[in-house]
Amino acid sequence: MTASLLERLIAPSILSADFGRLATAVDLALDAGAGLIHVDVMDGHFVPNITVGPLAVEAVAPRIHDRGGLVDCHLMIERAELFVERFAEAGADVITVHQEACAHLHRVVCQIHEAGARAGVAVNPATPLATLEEIRQHCDMVLVMSVNPGFGGQSFITTSLDKLRRARQFLPRHVALEVDGGVTEGNAAQLVEAGANLLVAGSSIFGAADPAAAYRRLAGSVSGAAG
Ligand code: DX5
Ligand code: ZN
Repeated sequence: MTASLLERLIAPSILSADFGRLATAVDLALDAGAGLIHVDVMDGHFVPNITVGPLAVEAVAPRIHDRGGLVDCHLMIERAELFVERFAEAGADVITVHQEACAHLHRVVCQIHEAGARAGVAVNPATPLATLEEIRQHCDMVLVMSVNPGFGGQSFITTSLDKLRRARQFLPRHVALEVDGGVTEGNAAQLVEAGANLLVAGSSIFGAADPAAAYRRLAGSVSGAAG
């Protein structure tokens, strides 16, 4: 069965995985029960780090799809419009672009839909939710960044909790709410209670001695939370 973006899901971010064994890391997350795999794409311009492109998505997407999972591509890049089709062809099911990096956000969201993917819009910690007022009804997901994007392993910015609460009130019900950055077993239930239904977790899963057990603990910590 294919995962739905409106379910409550933990999305392991492969940014913190061993890139020499990416397929193994993805399989491990899928075996542990993950239905959404988060791929962080960074260009060295919008954020001060460079990661992977469509080739890496193409390499992992078939094994994710074979297991009914979805590929969640978080584009931290400028000129996203030049790459949307490439990521969709590579197997991205969700393509998220940053509000701050898109001068023509509505056009890019339409482009993502035309390419056959679901469209997410991300906001940095300092970006007000009000900047999403005109796009909220057009997108499938909003991603609230709870760290400044660019690196895994940073601490959760605590004011993001209230931002999530306000985001859930502000967004139409059909729009999923994802949180990314500093998600741990210690704060995951609170994030769900605040209204997030998709929780990205990188270092708290792949940085753990036993990533499968860490995934299961995180999933367990949100399964009983009132959201
Ligand atoms: C940060 C990325 C995140 C990152 C999160 O810019 O967008 O997806 O992998 O890592 P953790 O969970 O370690 O904060
Ligand atoms: Zn991310």
